[in-house]
Amino acid sequence: MRTTQIPRTDLAPSAICMGSSNFGNGIAPADAYALLDAYVTCGGNFIDTAAVYANWLPGEKNSSEKTIGRWLAKSGQRSRIVLATKGAHPELATMHISRMSPAEIVDDLNTSLRNLQTEWIDLYWLHRDDTARPVAEIIDTLHSQVVAGKIRYFGCSNWRVDRIAAAQAYAAERGITGFVGNQMRWSLAEIDPAAVGDPTTVAMDDETLAYHQGTGLAAIPYSSQAGGYFQKLAEGSEIRPGQQKTYGTAANRSRAARLQTLAGETGYSVSEIVLAYLTNQPFATIPIVGCRTVAQVEDSMRAGDVRLTSEQMAWLAKGDGQSE
Ligand SMILES: NC(=O)c1ccc[n+]([C@@H]2O[C@H](COP(=O)([O-])OP(=O)(O)OC[C@H]3O[C@@H](n4cnc5c(N)ncnc54)[C@H](OP(=O)(O)O)[C@@H]3O)[C@@H](O)[C@H]2O)c1
Repeated sequence: MRTTQIPRTDLAPSAICMGSSNFGNGIAPADAYALLDAYVTCGGNFIDTAAVYANWLPGEKNSSEKTIGRWLAKSGQRSRIVLATKGAHPELATMHISRMSPAEIVDDLNTSLRNLQTEWIDLYWLHRDDTARPVAEIIDTLHSQVVAGKIRYFGCSNWRVDRIAAAQAYAAERGITGFVGNQMRWSLAEIDPAAVGDPTTVAMDDETLAYHQGTGLAAIPYSSQAGGYFQKLAEGSEIRPGQQKTYGTAANRSRAARLQTLAGETGYSVSEIVLAYLTNQPFATIPIVGCRTVAQVEDSMRAGDVRLTSEQMAWLAKGDGQSE
């Protein structure tokens, strides 16, 4: 499996990152351990979690982080894993009330360190933004945690590009590293933002793409397989109503047809090409996958070594109205 250097860091994790949003509750601990074991066996070493994960399901609080913490303790893998988690997420019942004061950020981080049974986080993400808070306060808080040795680097998730640019400008002025990555919803599928239930999430758009191309800031996209939409279409499996609402556009059906053509021509699977569309971007891009079975982990991980030409990339993503 290829590795991807995250610019301005000494982190060079595997080209595919392992997501964990339902670990512990939803995906039982033993099944989560099996997914993690399969992921490292396939050459993976980059794990994404968050303090809030699986709190929407009945069961243990912070169960994704706690499950990963137990797996790290029993597997002895901590030193070879690039461990990423997120904090400063609103309470689920009050998504409109931000939790991004310096005290809340530091408190969440300390909780995550305990849950994950580790002394440091390699990449700490702010899970949301609060545009009423000055970027200087936020960057200073995160930088203080780097200085304290609790996190190595930090990034933003679900931030709009103007706020990212302002935060990076402030960090540069201070002579500190600032954000080393941006985590947004992004895949080969077009999405209708109105169909996404949570208005506090942010998807890749043209302006953000141009920012990444111009600055080289790493992208670590989530929902990178569009929930398996393209694989399900290729297999003729049922598309869930929520997925149909978010992804079921004419443009995506055209992309699905092109994907299947390219899969036939190259011998790659649909999953491999869907993820390779991200790993072959001209700036560091490491997709996070949300696999539910070991077979899905193995299938998704094969994408780590796939190379696409710039012609194949452009053809896959072209808009509906463009000619073949
Ligand atoms: N920062 C944020 O706000 C944020 C938000 C969401 C997620 N995340 C992170 O990103 C991760 C991934 O997000 P996601 O779950 O939305 O991503 P995803 O990979 O696009 O969707 C996951 C679903 O895709 C299907 N799938 C996965 N691998 C497959 C394969 N090889 N073949 C066919 N289908 C496959 C499965 O559907 P079935 O279950 O139907 O088989 C699975 O449940 C999360 O676990 C989390 O770590 C971050």
